[in-house]
Amino acid sequence: MKIFYITTPIYYVNARPHLGSAYTTIAADVLARFHRMKGEEVFFLAGTDEHGAKVAETALKEKMDPQELCNQNSAKYQEAWDTLKISYNNFIRTTDSEHKEMVIQVLKRLNDKKLIYKGVYQGLYCVGCERYYTPKELINGECPIHRKKAISLSEDCYFFKLSIFREKLLKLIREDELIIEPLERKNEILGFLELNELEDLAISRANVKWGIPLPWDQDQTIYVWVDALLNYLSGIGWKGQLNKIPKQWPPEIQLLGKDILRFHAVIWPALLLALKMPLPHRLYVHGFFTINGQKMGKSAGNTIDPEEMARVFGVDALRWMTLSSFPFGHDGDISQSKFYDKYNSDLSNGLGNLLRRVLSLAEKAKEDFQPPAKPEHNFHDFVENVWQDYEHLLEELKFANVSTLINSLVAFCDRYVNENEPWKLFKDDFNQYKNVIYNLLESLRHIAWMVRPFMPDKSDEILRGLSLGASEKNKTLIVGKKWGQTSFGKISQGKILFPRL
Ligand code: MSP
Repeated sequence: MKIFYITTPIYYVNARPHLGSAYTTIAADVLARFHRMKGEEVFFLAGTDEHGAKVAETALKEKMDPQELCNQNSAKYQEAWDTLKISYNNFIRTTDSEHKEMVIQVLKRLNDKKLIYKGVYQGLYCVGCERYYTPKELINGECPIHRKKAISLSEDCYFFKLSIFREKLLKLIREDELIIEPLERKNEILGFLELNELEDLAISRANVKWGIPLPWDQDQTIYVWVDALLNYLSGIGWKGQLNKIPKQWPPEIQLLGKDILRFHAVIWPALLLALKMPLPHRLYVHGFFTINGQKMGKSAGNTIDPEEMARVFGVDALRWMTLSSFPFGHDGDISQSKFYDKYNSDLSNGLGNLLRRVLSLAEKAKEDFQPPAKPEHNFHDFVENVWQDYEHLLEELKFANVSTLINSLVAFCDRYVNENEPWKLFKDDFNQYKNVIYNLLESLRHIAWMVRPFMPDKSDEILRGLSLGASEKNKTLIVGKKWGQTSFGKISQGKILFPRL
């Protein structure tokens, strides 16, 4: 079976993780867990981007050796990812010797193929972005992201013949051989490629010392974006040999924010075409977390610490709220008070309350619950439809819609309780009481499956509340989503899933 290879961008090591930047990685993790739940073999890559002028500058400011700064901050990312339950299979660092070695191999190959030449670059450079801008892209001479004046630089450097890949890229993207989603991002890239002559790319820097030296000219270091993009290959253990491509390759999906679209949709596939490597199948581009309309980030000074939020809401709830607050492909404004509202409505009053209500009704029976002889079709059909939508929406990365869908199943169950009044049935018609409670326990089991990629530990807690244990967790989705084949033992009420805040 093909391995589902999924990547999240590697993070700049000079910054600290914040909730906005954690967004890409939490989303990638939910997707990775969903595919594992389906029984697929998943390889999920994360890491840190450690070279370049910004890292050197920060190290200087903090009177640290750059490598020491990298070690310290890369560990911070790993800690944050562990707190957020990011289930990566490998954490790649661009200062790893295997990575550096592979980047050198790649550059040598491109040079051997005569795809690199020496020239002089003159341009307007933003230190924050570590890239040159065309005058048209700047706003009053300032970088549109960092709002700082771009500086005029001229330097000897080496160029990669990016321009020769324009037609090929246009064709591949137009024909969805390289899928770029959502559609507006595909159109953005097509527009860019159609309207502009693609310029060759300066792939080395003489003025940046903290980087991988070019193998044939030690006075130059490799442009940090070329170094960084190649992590997606070194991260699965590629050493640069065409006859030994790891089995994970190519990625099924690569997640990224819209600020780094061009690097991933132009430079990255062009490098792969130059190397004669298969391209990733799909790039999915998400929007920004904003605060009062402004992108959350280090330079704007409006970051929210994910670990602090996790202390308030719990990690599982934080993951849920991060992805359910607004559609993945768009920008969305967030605030602590919106998170409180969402926590209370979806989780505390919604799912948590339903679980408590059903378990306390089920506890009365003091016996186990077997599937009814005659299943109730309404219920069964409703849940089956929810599953169909659920899987489709997750394949499409519509996380917020998935959360609405799960909430609708919770609401359906609440209505079912109100309409059937099982507390009366308990006295008047014990058999019917047991059927009704069975349907509710079974629905909660399905809900535990559905929330599992978002809230892995809460999913386990629900299963434990339903008197189900490891055997349930070890099923694959295709078995787990079958209705009416599970028996439940005696139920006791247990603790509150999401305490009200
Ligand atoms: N180092 C590069 C990526 C190299 S990949 C070969 C980089 N790093 S980053 O730390 O700046 O960003 C990492 C991810 O976080 C990107 O996908 C970026 O879009 C995302 N976000 C950073 N701030 C964000 C928000 N405020 N909102 C949502 N995501 C944003 O870029």
